[in-house]
Amino acid sequence: MNALDLNGRRAVITGGARGMGFGIARRLLDSGAAVALWDINQAVLAEAVAALSPLGTVTSQVVNVADYASVEAGAAAAATALGGIDILVNAAGIAGVNTPLADYPLDVWNAVLNVNLNGIFHTCRALVPYMKRGDYGRIVNIASMAGKDGNPNASAYSVSKAGVIGLTKSLGKELATTGIRVNVVCPAVIKTEMLADVSAEQIGYMLAKIPMGRMGTVEEIAAMVCWMCTDECSYSTGAVFDMSGGRATY
Ligand SMILES: NC(=O)c1ccc[n+]([C@@H]2O[C@H](COP(=O)([O-])OP(=O)(O)OC[C@H]3O[C@@H](n4cnc5c(N)ncnc54)[C@H](O)[C@@H]3O)[C@@H](O)[C@H]2O)c1
Repeated sequence: MNALDLNGRRAVITGGARGMGFGIARRLLDSGAAVALWDINQAVLAEAVAALSPLGTVTSQVVNVADYASVEAGAAAAATALGGIDILVNAAGIAGVNTPLADYPLDVWNAVLNVNLNGIFHTCRALVPYMKRGDYGRIVNIASMAGKDGNPNASAYSVSKAGVIGLTKSLGKELATTGIRVNVVCPAVIKTEMLADVSAEQIGYMLAKIPMGRMGTVEEIAAMVCWMCTDECSYSTGAVFDMSGGRATY
């Protein structure tokens, strides 16, 4: 593992209770950052805090990113606990269902958009003002290759992730003359618990598109995201970082 320097930095990580968010939190802690884990799943969040606390300063807030009032309350609590906020990693997300668009349940469509896209709007809206205070910030959003390519039978998910790419490009340009950088990662298939909510057929479709012929690991994602959170990620903003085992062609 290469050494990265995040000493003195304070990070909020949504979806921090498990999967990529948890792995990213561990890597940020290993690099010297203090972290606030945000998640809607209180029980798993408590386990995550217990597991990560030996590594450094860990606080947590039960936050539903789809609910702006919940995000605002989480932001105030995290800023108080950590003494400010310099880093935001948006890893909270849901898969929805795998079904043709014509059959897509209306409530699931809205839920996917509310968590995956509106959730990132909410966290950026609430946390950018904290970063502006010190004219410094790093925001890393987790989108998906589905947002670039559009996966069949995953319309809501693909739309939500395409929206995250657009939001990142827009906000990156808005903040380009400040000390805040906003970038997005597009993973292909990463081995996490989320895959339990994805059909075997869908996983097969996605894996077949990956030239490396394997899933990525949480550690591989965490390594890139951690670097994107450092001072050294200084000339990239509104940028799309692929993490796709060779799938991405543009
Ligand atoms: N696993 C993959 O193959 C893959 C590929 C591409 C992109 N992604 C994206 O990466 C991100 C992380 O995925 P993962 O595989 O680690 O998923 P995961 O399901 O393992 O973890 C997601 C976490 O987000 C939390 N969460 C869900 N809804 C929430 C809400 N409303 N408010 C707060 N927290 C909420 C969950 O409780 C969970 O702890 C997601 O945005 C996902 O869409 C995943």
